[in-house]
Amino acid sequence: MVLTRRRAQSMSISIKTPHEIEKMRVAGRLTAEVLDYIAPHVTSGITTGELDRLCHEYIVGIQGCIPAPLNYAPPGYKPYPKSICASVNHQVCHGVPGDRQLKNGDIVNLDVTVISDGYHGDSSRMFQVGDTSVQARRLCEVTFECLWLGIAQVRAGAHLGDVGHAIQQHAEKSGYSVVREFCGHGIGASFHEEPQVLHYGRPNTGIRLEAGMIFTIEPMINAGKAAIRTMADGWTIVTKDHSLSAQWEHTILVTESGHEVLTVSEGSRRQPDWIG
Ligand code: MF3
Ligand code: CO
Ligand code: CO
Repeated sequence: MVLTRRRAQSMSISIKTPHEIEKMRVAGRLTAEVLDYIAPHVTSGITTGELDRLCHEYIVGIQGCIPAPLNYAPPGYKPYPKSICASVNHQVCHGVPGDRQLKNGDIVNLDVTVISDGYHGDSSRMFQVGDTSVQARRLCEVTFECLWLGIAQVRAGAHLGDVGHAIQQHAEKSGYSVVREFCGHGIGASFHEEPQVLHYGRPNTGIRLEAGMIFTIEPMINAGKAAIRTMADGWTIVTKDHSLSAQWEHTILVTESGHEVLTVSEGSRRQPDWIG
């Protein structure tokens, strides 16, 4: 979500109860299952609007849940008009589904947030349409590795800056840049809560993690420069230099011994072997 300036945020980071954690596990699994369901539909010729409609009907009709983005209106934004975000090629995030047809070679991020029994799960994955370029595939892979290198830092006693640092290091040594204006976020009964989870930073800085915190990690990595701008629809974010951008997102629980990834399902990709 949008980065805002704030001091002493650790005062209001909620520690989830075992009862809440159980609800977050369910919301996380359902979120991942929406992405499993939509995956085979992400093919050349389909519009992002059709992907949105299919996800909406699955979430509401099959899961009996609520798509959190629909009519979501954080301060300064007009209500988001769709049920998922679909960000294609140089779109960074918050792409509003519509008449755009996917074509061979596109890369697309689908970002799904489900409310189940009052609790949110939030996850996104990259999809490749047909034959993508070597450069596009490498960007998607490096961004996936960035997500998991960030996750690998999560444990009680670690600092949030450790997460951002791991992500930034890997992105920049690969020749890519990290988007600064958007960040991961605490999540629970609300869609976006404290803390803000930056995807860049320095080790041993930022708040100390405690067991029972739940937040997302969702690095946005650009093949070119980091600068972004907002489109006229007020939502869709694109790279200023029109370079490709990729993003992956999971919802993570901090535990005493490490972490638990909540947005997992049959179809979710495992952590790379060399990480962890
Ligand atoms: N799912 C996005 C996130 O990861 C937020 C989307 S807000 C919306 O934080 F309104 F665009 F849906
Ligand atoms: Co999120
Ligand atoms: Co999301």
